[in-house]
Amino acid sequence: MVFKTLIKNIIHLSTVNSTMDEALSFVKEGLDHPVLIVADEQRSGKGRGKNIWSSPKGGFYGTYALPLEKQATEQQILFMHYAASIAVQQVLEKETGLEIKTKWPNDIYFRNKKLGGVLIEYLSGDKLFLLIGIGVNLFSNVDDIAEEHRKKSISLQFEDKQKLSMNQFIYKLSDTLLKLAVEIFENNFSNIVDLFNSRLSYFEKEIKLKNGSQYFCRGINNSGKLHLENEVDILQLKIEDNEMILEMD
Ligand code: BTN
Repeated sequence: MVFKTLIKNIIHLSTVNSTMDEALSFVKEGLDHPVLIVADEQRSGKGRGKNIWSSPKGGFYGTYALPLEKQATEQQILFMHYAASIAVQQVLEKETGLEIKTKWPNDIYFRNKKLGGVLIEYLSGDKLFLLIGIGVNLFSNVDDIAEEHRKKSISLQFEDKQKLSMNQFIYKLSDTLLKLAVEIFENNFSNIVDLFNSRLSYFEKEIKLKNGSQYFCRGINNSGKLHLENEVDILQLKIEDNEMILEMD
């Protein structure tokens, strides 16, 4: 794959609407190599679905634009969601020693509050691109986060981060993510299944759906779906089905 090489092109911008939009502009201009677009702040950061991603200064806001040589499969795209959250978690755990969790499908949690999230867009026009947007409230001040998200958000601003700097985070994240991406595009998913499930807060536990039913969570399977089962039923949830799960601690 083209992106086997590490990201050498990092474009650092100050204030943008969204790094996803910036990435799209680069793609439209005929981008032919992987880039990471990072911004200090975003005016209208995008979250999954119709959510906004509040993006005050101090956080990490980046979109990787990766050109693909051939169509990505649904499974590969699904696994890129998991890879992005695993990469953030691995880097933060290694560099800070803090215990960072992931919630399915790809939310990054610390002390049971949201620290980061991932947004993936697959562009399959004349040329094929994967845009991987990652937001982490790394050093931001929680008081600057939009009011509707503030209560459930957390940042690492006041944690002992040892020597972690924004630049270090960016380089280590790129390195970790791209290694996982290579596994995915070689159709090698088992490592990521294990990495994800070992960090999933309700792995091998009972979970409740919003419709009141209760299931045992077996984690994600090799096809990338979340496998739930009870005495009468088996469910395989796709990322879009994440709203079905009742929010739990
Ligand atoms: C979510 O959990 O809802 C996903 C949040 C993704 C936010 C990142 S920040 C960088 C990139 N640019 C955006 O506008 N969104 C993503």
